[in-house]
Formats: sequence, structure tokens, C-alpha cells
Amino acid sequence: MKLVIGVVRPEKANDVLEALYRAEVRGVSMSRVQGHGGELERVETYRGTTVKVGLSEKVRFEIAVSDDFVDQTIDALCEGGRTGEVGDGKVFVVPLERVVRIRTGETDVSAVTPVDK
Ligand SMILES: Nc1ncnc2c1ncn2[C@@H]1O[C@H](COP(=O)(O)OP(=O)(O)OP(=O)(O)O)[C@@H](O)[C@H]1O
Ligand SMILES: [Mg+2]
Repeated sequence: MKLVIGVVRPEKANDVLEALYRAEVRGVSMSRVQGHGGELERVETYRGTTVKVGLSEKVRFEIAVSDDFVDQTIDALCEGGRTGEVGDGKVFVVPLERVVRIRTGETDVSAVTPVDK
């Protein structure tokens, strides 16, 4: 299992949700975050040039999937999130040790996508 984390532009969040739905990925968390992609804005000050680290609003998706669903989850984040401009975001894939569905006590692969209900 993997935890796929995608940080995208807020205006692309709905496109990502649609792409995930089409890829039959079920089960997703979203949160608003502030992030920085590494570009530094140079600011002239009277003693010389300094840099300003500006934060921008992003939406962070967290999606726990079985290994079979990792590629389509990454593809959905990339297709739904892409504008082609700097700042489209990133995808991180993290090993996931354990998942528990609280209602049933099911664990691991039975507790993540796919869900046949
Ligand atoms: N190395 C990182 N670690 C954690 N979060 C990151 C990292 N890089 C980017 N992010 C998150 O992704 C958001 C968007 O990053 P951004 O798209 O600017 O990445 P980038 O690598 O600079 O790509 P681009 O060249 O398209 O701008 C950031 O605001 C931040 O929230
Ligand atoms: Mg950037």
C-alpha cells in the first residue's frame, strides 16, 4: 500500500477529483495548505539584494491505495492538476504500513481502494 500525496492549485482541485473518480479511486482527503515550490523572489533593498520566500495557497490530497492503484492515482493527479505553468504542484508517494476501517475493523488492502459497494 502507498499513501499518495498530491499538492495542486486550488482551482484544479475539482479536475483532480473528477480524474480520481474516473480512475475508480475511492477514498480521498483534501486540505488547504500553504506551500513554497522553491522559487525565490528577489527584492531590492537599499543595502543590497535579499530574497523573499512567498507562500501560495495549494490543496493537498491524501489518497491511500493498494499497490495496483498507485499509477492511476498519480496519473489522475497529474492530468487533473496540470496547467503547464510553473507552480502546478507535486506528487509524493510514501510507503503505507497499516490501514484500519474503523466501522468493520477491516485492515490493509480490504480497507482501501478498491471498494466494491
Ligand atoms: N520539496 C517539497 N516538499 C514539500 N512540498 C513541496 C515541495 N516542492 C513543492 N511542494 C509543494 O508543492 C507546491 C507547488 O510546488 P511547485 O509546483 O512550485 O513545485 P516546483 O518543483 O517548483 O515545480 P514548478 O517548476 O512547476 O514550479 C508548493 O507550494 C508546496 O506546497
Ligand atoms: Mg515552483
